[in-house]
Amino acid sequence: MKTKHTIQSLREVIEEDRSKGFTIGFVPTMGALHEGHLELMRRAKRENDRLVVSVFVNPIQFNNKEDLEKYPRDLESDSEMLLSVGCDYLFAPSVAEMYPVPDQSSYDFGALGDVMEGAFRAGHFNGVAIVVRKLFEIVEPQKAYFGEKDFQQLAIIQQMTMMLKLPVDVVPCPIVREPDGLAMSSRNQRLTAEERALAPKIHQILQKAVLLKNVLSPQEMRKWTFEQLSAIASFKIDYVEIADDKMLQPVQHWNDSEGMVLFVALFLGKVRLIDNLRIF
Ligand code: PAF
Repeated sequence: MKTKHTIQSLREVIEEDRSKGFTIGFVPTMGALHEGHLELMRRAKRENDRLVVSVFVNPIQFNNKEDLEKYPRDLESDSEMLLSVGCDYLFAPSVAEMYPVPDQSSYDFGALGDVMEGAFRAGHFNGVAIVVRKLFEIVEPQKAYFGEKDFQQLAIIQQMTMMLKLPVDVVPCPIVREPDGLAMSSRNQRLTAEERALAPKIHQILQKAVLLKNVLSPQEMRKWTFEQLSAIASFKIDYVEIADDKMLQPVQHWNDSEGMVLFVALFLGKVRLIDNLRIF
């Protein structure tokens, strides 16, 4: 595996591979890698000749200073994990390399950008879109892999790719969970032992809620889920939502011909966790 810190040096090696006809698969990350990331990478490795992974904690997508400061960073341990999945190129740029001048691009994702994470984290998706666009322009992958835990982020990136006509196939990948059901996330590392023991309740409650789809309306399921989560004193809920799986707009009636997903975002102590589960 070659580690590159500059855009120029990464482009040189990728260009050489491309000139030999190799296909490029890409997994953008913010590091603090876990099994969920590794699953994306194994798939990217299977489906492409070369695997490029970026590790870059993107400051402009954080709307909370403490979250940015506390975001776990450990390039050495990330590199070891990348070696284990056969990563060819690790791209780990500095903030100055990615943003020599501030990028003022502003994207309008319409209704998709206004709900859930968009409503609770002002500017977050604009920051994600800027960095992912830049990374796509640098790496020029045929395929890029994103996890469905960040379901709305994935939808935003798919929309951006269409809006800007970027020649990248955005590949959605299923959520990877711990044996107790907790969705894998770099933020899980920051949970205390007590919080970690409570965290699987999120998935357990979502699972129970989805089983009630034949007896509860969407409004009732949302309320039921909210009440069950609220009963756990340490959970401070940002939102519980039931939305369609395309534009992520709130659902009023069940329609099993349309994809529908139950979403939740909450704070457990100082750590913000999100999860989702498909209903239809
Ligand atoms: O999901 C993430 O880790 C980040 O939002 C991403 C896509 C790497 C952009 O910084």
